[in-house]
Amino acid sequence: MEMLPTPHSDCMTQKGILLAGGSGTRLDPLTRVVCKQLLPVYDKPMIYYPLSTLMLGGLRDIMIVSTPQDLPPLQALLGDGAPLGIRLTYAEQAHPSGIAQAFLIAEEFLAGQGATLILGDNLFYGPLDTFRHALRLERGASIFGCHVADPGRFGVVEFDAAGRVVNLVEKPSHPSSSCAVPGLYVYDGTVVERVKRQQPSARGEFEITDLNRSYLRDGQLELRLLGRGFGWMDAGTPESLLEAGNFIATIERRQNLKVACLEEVALNRGFITPAQFEKLIATARNPDYRRYLEIVLASTSPVPPTASP
Ligand code: G1P
Repeated sequence: MEMLPTPHSDCMTQKGILLAGGSGTRLDPLTRVVCKQLLPVYDKPMIYYPLSTLMLGGLRDIMIVSTPQDLPPLQALLGDGAPLGIRLTYAEQAHPSGIAQAFLIAEEFLAGQGATLILGDNLFYGPLDTFRHALRLERGASIFGCHVADPGRFGVVEFDAAGRVVNLVEKPSHPSSSCAVPGLYVYDGTVVERVKRQQPSARGEFEITDLNRSYLRDGQLELRLLGRGFGWMDAGTPESLLEAGNFIATIERRQNLKVACLEEVALNRGFITPAQFEKLIATARNPDYRRYLEIVLASTSPVPPTASP
């Protein structure tokens, strides 16, 4: 009998949370009956991309948090994750009160462990060494920084003259830097207690930026810059959704390699055996997608890691 890889996490100190919440107002009417994270980014549902990022980091125990109406279709798409060698659980965010609320919802799931949170509309493309390094964290928090053209749409880092982080500001009207904080955060086991102590903001939300500031105040926040060769996109507006789709299409057609192909990631990360992968091939209904999976399996050398996520 074939030995199955055990579906516990590679990354022993971290569990994953994928927040697929929000009402997708900025994408209405696209999001009137379909949740944002199920909209297509070229050839896959949006949620495949952040999920693949967590998997590429070695995270295998992941909770998906979403609204009561959006959980059933997300669950229908991704199931319990077992065929991919991961464990997916689902939890409701019944009354959306900010990104950091996800940690309160996930308290039992986390059971005091550290947590990596990724937003369901954030796409990362490029070498993930910086992320993997951050996942070794034992104490404090790691956030990332990306140079963007429009920092005012994001959480923004404020630096002093020596380049030290002195503050984080959520969607500033006058950003003091072009360094935005993407929706990928790595926290230690104190995260739930910190959110519990947090006051909701003026708009009544548990702000992720306030959580990051609590670590900053304690001298426990690490900012890791993602270099200019790294691609970070969010897909929360019609323009950014289209741009993300075009970006993925360009890369995939040029390389003939897929970005965020969950089956391929699971195989390459050793989450599943080739025999299990073959079963996934058998379930692929799209002949092109199936052929791609067959090539992945047949290729003697593994697909270079730089081709991911
Ligand atoms: C959220 C966070 C913001 C972060 C952004 C990344 O904003 O509040 O700090 O920079 O995600 O996508 P939202 O896009 O939910 O308004």
